Amino acid sequence: MTDVYLNGIFMNADQARISPMDRGFLFADGVYEVIPAFNGVLFRLNEHLLRLQRSLGALQIPNPHAADAWQALCKEMIGRNGGGNISVYLQVTRGAPDKRDHGFPVPAVPPTVFMATSPVAPSAISNSATAPGAAAIVAEDIRWARCDIKAVALLPNILLRQQAIAAGAVEAILIRDGLVTEGSSTNVFVVKDGRIATPPCTPRILAGVTRELVVELCRNHELPLVEREVTKEQLYDADEIWVTSSSKDALPIVTLDARPVGNGRPGALWKTLARRFLELKRAACSIA
Ligand code: PDD
Repeated sequence: MTDVYLNGIFMNADQARISPMDRGFLFADGVYEVIPAFNGVLFRLNEHLLRLQRSLGALQIPNPHAADAWQALCKEMIGRNGGGNISVYLQVTRGAPDKRDHGFPVPAVPPTVFMATSPVAPSAISNSATAPGAAAIVAEDIRWARCDIKAVALLPNILLRQQAIAAGAVEAILIRDGLVTEGSSTNVFVVKDGRIATPPCTPRILAGVTRELVVELCRNHELPLVEREVTKEQLYDADEIWVTSSSKDALPIVTLDARPVGNGRPGALWKTLARRFLELKRAACSIA
C-alpha cells in the first residue's frame, strides 16, 4: 500500500477520504501536475511548479503552497514510497463547500490538495538502439478551447486514448481544423527531410515540460527545429514522428493508423535526440 498526501496529512492510500461535495468530484474544478523523479531526484520540478501556478491562476484558485513547500512535499512523497523512478501526481481543486453551485463558493473554502505516486517504467530513450517504437492513430481533437490549462477535466482525452487502445495503439494524435495539436496526453514532433517541427504553444495545446526540454536539446545540439503549424497531410507524410511527456520522455511513433511512418523503425534524428536526452537526464538526476 502506498502513502498519499491529503490536505496536510500523509496517510495510507486506503485511509484517504474526500467529500462528495468536493468541486473536483462534482465539476472537475481543479488542476494537476505529474512530476517525474529518476533515481529519487525530481526532474524539471521548477518548470512543473510554474505551470501549476499558471493553471491555478487561470482558474483563480489560490496556490496553497509556495515552491519550496511543494518541493518538500514532493520529496517526502518520494521518500515514503520507495524512491527510484517514480512520478508524483498532485491535484488541487477549488475545495468542498456545503452546497453545489456553479459559481465559485462565497466565502471561498480551502482548496483540496491531493498527492500520490506511481512507478515510472523505463522509456524508449533508455535503450534507443533497440527501442521498437510505438503505434498511434489520428483522431479529431474534440477538447475545449483552453487546453493550455492542465485541468483535471480529461473526459475527451480519456475517450481519445481509449480509441487508440481499441486500435492496438498507444496514443491518439489530434487534429483541429486540419492542423496537428498534440496527443491525448503528449506533445507531437514531426521530422521531414532532416528538419524537425512541433506545433507552437497556443491555448490549443498544453505547453509540455518535456516538449520544452526537447526544443532546448534540439537548439543546444544543432538539430534543426522550428515551432510551426503541422498539417494533417504533413503528419501522414512525416519521415519520423515523436510524442513527448514526463512519463514517456520522447517516444518514436513507427506506425500511424496502421501504416508505417518512414521506414517503420525509429529514425536517425530520434536516436540522436534520445542519446542527448538520456545524457541530460543522467546528469540532472546523478545517475551513474
Ligand atoms: N500528461 N499534452 C497533454 C494533453 C498532456 O496531458 C501531457 C501530459 C502533455 C505532456 O506534458 P509534460 O511533458 O509536461 O508531461 C502534453 C500527463 C503526463 C498526464 O496526464 O498523465
